[in-house]
Amino acid sequence: NQEKLSSARFSESTDAFVEAFTASIQFDNRMYKQDIQGSIAHAKMLTKVGILNDAELNDIINGLNQVQREIEAGEFQWSIKQEDIHMNLEARLTSLIGITGKKLHTGRSRNDQVATDIRLYLRDEIDSILPEMKRLQTGLVELAEREADTIMPGFTHLQTAQPVTFGHHMLAWFEMIKRDVERLEDCRKRVNTLPLGSAALAGTTYPIEREYTAELLGFERITENSLDGVSDRDFAIEFTAFAATLMMHLSRFSEELVLWSSAQFQFIDLPDRFCTGSSIMPQKKNPDVPELVRGKSGRVYGHLMSLLTLMKSQPLAYNKDNQEDKEPLFDTVDTVKGSLRAFADMVPAIQVKREMTYEAAKRGFSTATDLADYLVGKGLAFRDSHEVVGLAVAHGIKTGEDLSEMSLETLQGFCDKITDDVFEVLTLEGSVAARDHLGGTAPNQVRAAVTRAKTYLDS
Ligand code: ARG
Repeated sequence: NQEKLSSARFSESTDAFVEAFTASIQFDNRMYKQDIQGSIAHAKMLTKVGILNDAELNDIINGLNQVQREIEAGEFQWSIKQEDIHMNLEARLTSLIGITGKKLHTGRSRNDQVATDIRLYLRDEIDSILPEMKRLQTGLVELAEREADTIMPGFTHLQTAQPVTFGHHMLAWFEMIKRDVERLEDCRKRVNTLPLGSAALAGTTYPIEREYTAELLGFERITENSLDGVSDRDFAIEFTAFAATLMMHLSRFSEELVLWSSAQFQFIDLPDRFCTGSSIMPQKKNPDVPELVRGKSGRVYGHLMSLLTLMKSQPLAYNKDNQEDKEPLFDTVDTVKGSLRAFADMVPAIQVKREMTYEAAKRGFSTATDLADYLVGKGLAFRDSHEVVGLAVAHGIKTGEDLSEMSLETLQGFCDKITDDVFEVLTLEGSVAARDHLGGTAPNQVRAAVTRAKTYLDS
C-alpha cells in the first residue's frame, strides 16, 4: 500500500470514506493513454532543457510503456489510495524504475496535467466522431440520390402542405449534420491548445519550453495565461453544446422515422435488425433504435447543464469541483458515438414505400398552392387567387375530390380564367418539378445538391 499523497503534512490518514468519495480513478482511468503520452512529452521537454538526462528519460519512457502494457493486459492494480489516474501511473512507474520516477513531476502539477489529458482525450474522440458523422452524411446522400424522384407529402404543423421529394427531405438532414460538423471542427481548434506549463496555477520556476511539448503532442496553440490554463473547461462545454445540438437533430430525425414507420404513415420500412418485437403483441415491430436515440438526447442536454453549472461559481484557479467534469463529458462522448453509429448503420438500409408516399401526397390538397400560383400567372392578384382556391378546396372537402379530380367546368365555376392546362399544374410531378431553383425540392435540384454534397464529402 502506497503512502498518502503528501503524507508528511498530515497527522492522520484520510478517512476511508473520504478517500473513496474524493477519488476519481474509477472513471478517469479511461485517460491512461493520454496521461502516458503527456508524461512522455513532458519528460522529453525536461531532458531537452537539461533537467533530466538521457538515461533518466529512457527509463521513464520504458517504464511508462511497461505501465501501458500492464493496463492493456488487464494486469494493472488500480488503487483508490492513489486517488486518480495521474497518481496511479506515477506510483507504478516509481515502483518500476525507482527514484527517476519521482522526477517526472518536476515543473508540473496535476492541475495542468489533467487539463492536458482531457484535451488529448477529447481531441482523439473528436477525430473518431468526425468520420462517423461523414459516414452518416454519406448514407443520407446515397438515399437522397436513390429517392430523388420519390414524391411524398411535405408538412407544416404536421398537416399536409406541399409535395416534396423524399431525396430533398434526406438532404435537409444532411445540412443539419453538416452544420454540426462545422461546429465540431471549430470546437477542435480550442480543444487543441496546450495548458501544460501552467503548473499548479502560476507557472513554474524551471526553464521549461512549452512550444516543444506542444509540438510533441501535436497541439496547435499554447494557453497564454497559467491561471486560465488550469481552470478553463470551456472546450468541454463547447463540445457538449455541439453534442446537444447534434442529439437534438438526431432526435427530430428519430421522431420522423418513428412516425413514418407506423401503420398510419407507412412511408418507410426500417430494417428488422434495427427493430425489436413485443413480449405480448405478436405483430409488433418497434423502432427501438430511433426511439432510444430520441430518448438519449435528454442525458446529453443534462450533461451540458451540469458542466455549465459546474463552472459557474468557481473562483480561479483550479478547484476540486473540476473533477466532476469527466463523467458528463465521457457519457456525452459515449452517447454521441453510439447514436451516430446506430444511425450511420441504419440510414442506408431504410426502405421507402414509394406508392404509399405518393398516395399520401395526393391527400390533403397538397397542390393547392400550385393552383393559386397558376391563377397568378393568369393575371389574378395572389390574395384573390388564394381565396378562389380556398373555395375550391372547401368544395373538394364536401365531395371528396382532389383538385386534380375536379372537372374543368367545376374548376371554371370558381374562376373563369382556368383552362385545361391547369391539370398539368395539379399533378404531383408538376408541382415538385416547378420548384426548380437552388434549395428547391425539384428532382433536378436534388441531383444537383447530391453532386455538391459528394464534392464536400470527398474534400
Ligand atoms: N483528479 C483530479 C481532477 O480530475 C486531478 C487534479 C487534481 N488536482 C488537485 N490539486 N487535487 O481534477
